[in-house]
Amino acid sequence: MALPEQVLTNDDMAAIVDTNDEWIHSRTGIRQRYIANDKETTASLGLMAAKKALAQANTLPNEVQLIIVATSTPENIFPSTASLIQGWLGANRAGAFDLSAACSGFVYGIDMATQAIRSGSINTAIVIGSETMSRILDWQDRSTCILFGDGAGAVVLQGSSEYGGVLSSVLRSDGSGYDLLGVPSVGSVDIAYNNDHKPYKMHMNGREVFRFATRIMGESIEQALDKAELTIEDVTVVVPHQANNRILESAARNLKLDESKFISTVEQFGNTSAASIPMALCVALEQGRIKDDDNIVFIGFGGGLTWAAMVIQWGAKLDQESRSGPIFIRFRRRIAYLLARWHARLKRILRRSSNWLAVLGFRVGNDKEIRLKTDRHDR
Ligand code: UT7
Repeated sequence: MALPEQVLTNDDMAAIVDTNDEWIHSRTGIRQRYIANDKETTASLGLMAAKKALAQANTLPNEVQLIIVATSTPENIFPSTASLIQGWLGANRAGAFDLSAACSGFVYGIDMATQAIRSGSINTAIVIGSETMSRILDWQDRSTCILFGDGAGAVVLQGSSEYGGVLSSVLRSDGSGYDLLGVPSVGSVDIAYNNDHKPYKMHMNGREVFRFATRIMGESIEQALDKAELTIEDVTVVVPHQANNRILESAARNLKLDESKFISTVEQFGNTSAASIPMALCVALEQGRIKDDDNIVFIGFGGGLTWAAMVIQWGAKLDQESRSGPIFIRFRRRIAYLLARWHARLKRILRRSSNWLAVLGFRVGNDKEIRLKTDRHDR
């Protein structure tokens, strides 16, 4: 995972809006969140997380065939943040796209990448959840701005002939709740005609979202477990979307599961939307709470409304042929990142210089080929 440098505590927040540490902590569990500075962006945080995940998986960028970035705060409406990261990584054999499913996006992304691997279409993918929520917050609305933070998390997925990995998933949406939370953008009637919401600023009906989250969490986890032919007793930990500790407590009660089995990072990071599950996963791994062959559950929920539950058997064995040692792979990864930077610059320079040459009257490209194309067109 990757975090911005700057921390904003609840006391800092009280200097911005009419709130206090006691209210925020008792209602949500949050004590602080990380906030991106001018140089930290959704792509730069996502890139940092992706590089760490590649190092952890001992994988080279040119082995990656698909990059999915789950985000509600992309760098642009298009091109995708995923394409930017693909170029920076030098993942020259990869397709790349952004996925919009709000806080459920990371689990949706894992499902998409898993299906692509299972179909045989690809063997290696990176799924990233990355957000700079601070840029879309309405910093005058104390009921939303206190909840969110920035950050990124990433995983590398690889095909294996061994049983394990993603065992089941349940992806759902209820569009009747589309107005409960969101960020209007250029295509929205809310901006063009209604002026109901501020453009590019988040609005949310917290109470309704709270009710929805507590209702679907237990239910969808049970559906995913049924599909995987497991029961809640088989689960080592649940890695939920980190919205509010009270939501996690309620889900634990519904499932009759010890609360300590729910990984919570709400206190340190707040709600980082699509990044919250991979960040919580990372913390759980660092704390040694997930071991090989453990069954773990992801549960995401958020805008759409969307929700997604997934059961995973951790640490499936990979079918890796004998590979060169990790030091050699690390060295090759460094070179790949360096080359990627220069490769992109060189391509841009060549593109620009060919435009200048064209303006100056030089014909660029293969004359014969151009003539042939024109002939075909004439016929
Ligand atoms: O990623 C998924 C998206 N988001 C969520 O999952 C959020 C789900 N919802 C929630 O977590 C909770 O609904 C909130 C934390 C957003 C709000 O908690 P609540 O217990 O539902 O509070 P409330 O909205 O019912 O507000 C209670 C009172 C209100 O005052 P009055 O009308 O009772 O006098 C609010 O004005 O608390 C007031 N309030 C605050 N007071 C101090 C609202 N925000 C604040 C604040 N500081 N930041």
